[in-house]
Amino acid sequence: MIQDLVPGRVAGWDSFEDRLRFTPHPAEAASLRSRAPARRREFANGRYCAHRALRRLGTPALAIPAGARGAPRWPDQVVGSITHCPGYTAAVVARRTRVRALGIDAEPHLPLPADVLEFVARPEERARVRRLLAERPGAHWDRLLFSAKESVYKTWFPVTGRFLGFHEAEVRIDPEAGTFGVRIPDSGGAGPALPRELTGRWRISGGLLVTAIAVPAPEGER
Ligand SMILES: CC(C)(COP(=O)(O)OP(=O)(O)OC[C@H]1O[C@@H](n2cnc3c(N)ncnc32)[C@H](O)[C@@H]1OP(=O)(O)O)[C@@H](O)C(=O)NCCC(=O)NCCS
Repeated sequence: MIQDLVPGRVAGWDSFEDRLRFTPHPAEAASLRSRAPARRREFANGRYCAHRALRRLGTPALAIPAGARGAPRWPDQVVGSITHCPGYTAAVVARRTRVRALGIDAEPHLPLPADVLEFVARPEERARVRRLLAERPGAHWDRLLFSAKESVYKTWFPVTGRFLGFHEAEVRIDPEAGTFGVRIPDSGGAGPALPRELTGRWRISGGLLVTAIAVPAPEGER
């Protein structure tokens, strides 16, 4: 599923298996000491998908330790993103010369608790989501908005090294095209590294909801 949401220059790997047989490299597992078995499992699932994606990209098999604020430390010249939720794990990677940043997120396709929507959505986003929920009741647009914002953060943080609050980005879902637009009005810290406006793709399938953002590298680097 993940490969359909990213351009061809991005290599993806995903799995619907919750117990993938994979032992993370010691450098990867270092951050997991004293963590609960369920967390170790989701971490291992994510690293498995990441290594398969790297192999698909044709890069050497190197460890992917956890870096600042939990962001994966990808091999030099590679950008990537990992997500996991019950019943699904995915990773995407690309060469830095071709892609500036990647962010993906998977969620169960379920309603978002009302208080969470209040917390994550700007007033205009809440209004749009409520309209979509009323006019197109087949999809949990509130959960989709949340997932898109998680993808924004995963795209944003590795480039800027800065936290981004939920209300700092505005997401507008296109229910027909399977895309969403992102506007980061105050991109302080990002500078020219990341455009103020991004585009992502979304998909709902098999009880899951997945969002993905791939920011192309500037022309000169491609
Ligand atoms: C970090 C965060 C985005 C993870 O999302 P999640 O839905 O809880 O969990 P997912 O399974 O989808 O993703 C977890 C993976 O994200 C990656 N990740 C964690 N922190 C990250 C960061 N700072 N930057 C990029 N990727 C990160 C990791 O690969 C992690 O898996 P791993 O620890 O097994 O390697 C979320 O917990 C969070 O902190 N959000 C607050 C910030 C935010 O979303 N702002 C919205 C801006 S509009």
